[in-house]
Amino acid sequence: MKVPFNIPAILGTEIDVIKDVLESQKLSGNGVFSKKCDDWFKENLGCHGAIPVPSGTAALEMGLMLANISHGDEVILPSHTFTSTATAIVLHGGVPVFVDAEPETLNINTALIEQAITPKTKAIIPVHYAGVSCDMHHIMKIAKQYNLTILEDAAQCISARDQNGMVGSQGHMSIFSFHETKNITCGEGGMLCINDPSLWERAEIIRDKGTNRQKFFRGQVDKYSWQDKGSSYLMSELQAGYLYAQLQACEKIIQDRLETWNFYHRALEDMQNQGKLRRPIIPEGAAHNAHVYYILLPSDEERKHVQKSLNDQGVNAVTHYVPLHSSDAGKKYGYVAGEMSETDDFTSRLLRLPLFYGLAQEQRDHVIKTLLKALA
Ligand SMILES: Cc1ncc(COP(=O)(O)O)c(C=O)c1O
Repeated sequence: MKVPFNIPAILGTEIDVIKDVLESQKLSGNGVFSKKCDDWFKENLGCHGAIPVPSGTAALEMGLMLANISHGDEVILPSHTFTSTATAIVLHGGVPVFVDAEPETLNINTALIEQAITPKTKAIIPVHYAGVSCDMHHIMKIAKQYNLTILEDAAQCISARDQNGMVGSQGHMSIFSFHETKNITCGEGGMLCINDPSLWERAEIIRDKGTNRQKFFRGQVDKYSWQDKGSSYLMSELQAGYLYAQLQACEKIIQDRLETWNFYHRALEDMQNQGKLRRPIIPEGAAHNAHVYYILLPSDEERKHVQKSLNDQGVNAVTHYVPLHSSDAGKKYGYVAGEMSETDDFTSRLLRLPLFYGLAQEQRDHVIKTLLKALA
């Protein structure tokens, strides 16, 4: 039996919305369906406004432009994240400053952030790994004390919650990804959510090639013109329509993924008790969105053995990030503040199990049966 690592959720409802987009005869960005996606985020996240963009990466780039990151400015981030979190900083001439993770959630260790702050520090990008929130209460306290901008990388977090509400609602801005590996997808796509209303007007300008075209469309100016830095950060209406259909089924998709996540979690309890692996730890008050199910094996060798055993039986279990601080570009463009012992340790032991919408019970059984055999 083959169990792929991921199959993008395709609901069947997307095609009807795409037909509506075609009938509307408006295909480029910022039409009716972009507005519906914006409204979904306003309603669910409680943000001031949400801008659909071509990717999570584009949303990070826009966010750092809004934070005025320029040559030599330092931005604090974890090393255990996707390259986009760092490339967006470097693109603007900024310097990524990597801080170690805390071992329970694998998120940035907020107790280590203050020691990484220098007079050049302008922003922090907390990355909420696997749909589990960082300690945002602590991060926002630091932000206030040092006057830093917080751009939450919630790429993996659609509809995840912590005790403060939806993940992505606490920082000045947050981003989401709709890449096909994410819970909700439109092929490629992202969202920049603006929580600090003072950033909204400039966000509209940056998105639209540096122009005040939106003001023109609202009848607030009689011509639109070049106002600021910018780029073409609009999502087409075809993708926004697809995304809207998926957003409407968000809870259904997450419930289905949670069933698989919880099945794995229950089935592996004994193995954890025997010290053969460690399962994900979800902090109290957090409601994750079942984006990733990972296990931590005792060593890199053990991980290689388990991964090979699973792969040989058709189960596509995969590792995750090569820590950015250890990569060629990470060393060239950024630096590590303090130690990286936790990140170095768990990234060499982490293995992700297949998890997607519609994963069948017999596939779940096969994953667990094969894994238990490999661990025996
Ligand atoms: C943590 C994190 N940040 C940023 C991104 C970039 O998102 P996208 O692939 O939509 O550009 C991803 C997704 O792959 C991610 O997992």
